Amino acid sequence: MSALVHPFAETGGEPFINVVRAEGSSVWDDTGKEYVDGMANLWLCQVGHGRQEIHDAVTAQMADVSGYNIFSPFTNPRADELADKIADLSPFDQPGVFLACSGSEAIDTAIKFARTHFQRGGDPDRQVIVRRTHGYHGTNVGGTSVQGIEANREMWGDLVPHVIEVAHDDLESAARTFSEHGEHIAAVISEPVQGAGGVHPPPLGYLEGLRRLCDDHGALLIADEVICGFGRTGGWFASDTYGVKPDMITFAKGVTSGYLPLSGVILSNRINEALRDHDFLLRHGYTYSGHPAACAAALANIEIIERDGLVERAHHVGRRISGGLDALTRDGVIAGSRGVGALWAADIGRDALPLKQPLLDRGAILRPIRDAVAFCPPLSTPDAQIDRLVDALASAIEATRGSR
Ligand SMILES: Cc1ncc(COP(=O)(O)O)c(C=O)c1O
Repeated sequence: MSALVHPFAETGGEPFINVVRAEGSSVWDDTGKEYVDGMANLWLCQVGHGRQEIHDAVTAQMADVSGYNIFSPFTNPRADELADKIADLSPFDQPGVFLACSGSEAIDTAIKFARTHFQRGGDPDRQVIVRRTHGYHGTNVGGTSVQGIEANREMWGDLVPHVIEVAHDDLESAARTFSEHGEHIAAVISEPVQGAGGVHPPPLGYLEGLRRLCDDHGALLIADEVICGFGRTGGWFASDTYGVKPDMITFAKGVTSGYLPLSGVILSNRINEALRDHDFLLRHGYTYSGHPAACAAALANIEIIERDGLVERAHHVGRRISGGLDALTRDGVIAGSRGVGALWAADIGRDALPLKQPLLDRGAILRPIRDAVAFCPPLSTPDAQIDRLVDALASAIEATRGSR
């Protein structure tokens, strides 16, 4: 057995699939078997695999400067260019952009920024972060504390204090929390569309309601767009798709399509101005914040998304998936479906985990989550490959019917 400790893996491991090649919306293992990548790696590869332009941009950058930090007094042209580009694409007017490496780092950054906003603003008792059931916000200590997937919070000892949970689909639950604790709430953290928790689009009016509660009680709204950002929901950000402007947006994944690790937090002008006030040393940051090669990958990736119209194409991909799932629903194969843009889930109506291996056997990488199977392919995926994913799901369900 290899020395490698795998994330989210059972002790003892399983026979791992050795991925040795990736091109477009397919990956191949070391036996030559092809899989359609219906999860875009892990909810992130918007442009598909093997894009030469991104390789070239990274190689050219590495020939100039392979890596250098941006702690004061340093910066680099790619990091500045990327921050400006993301600011332009964001729903904010003159925001700030903080760069990190992983979604988990972006989340812990946003939590710290929300709290320091009030620590420095003369309201130090405002520390509570409100989380939603089913929310997933990464696995650093902050993100573990504010995620609503209970099993992920267990067995790590004490987590970050001052966190309150509300029901993911019930605004009343949030309203009650605000009426009891309003003056202590620093921020609500919410994925606009919950991803890893099972692909749950927000109930009608839910995000607007959260925004209103935050405004009425002086709290901040953090939109975790680590999955939703960079086109996945059919807008550059889901905050555009749903027309609800948060105070901070966390992003990762789709910003580079995973070619290199990069993440960050977009700060509304108000939060940014307060944070960059005079006489304040921001004691937060990562060695690899603004890594020039990762920034070059992000810039090339965003250029492809723009050039190929992939934000708009998310709607087409989504219609193809949902059309397929509607047909399976009509035929009684699945119980229904839910989603937005190119982020969908089939409701299997029973435990979906037994479908994991049959799906892989059929060359389909999809993600069973409780009673659902998630679809999140590259935004460039051709129709024929989407159809293969839907067919594989139908066939895997058929093959496991007896094992209900
Ligand atoms: C919504 C959301 N937030 C945060 C994270 C954590 O990102 P990372 O795994 O890059 O740390 C994820 C990862 O899937 C995510 O889906």
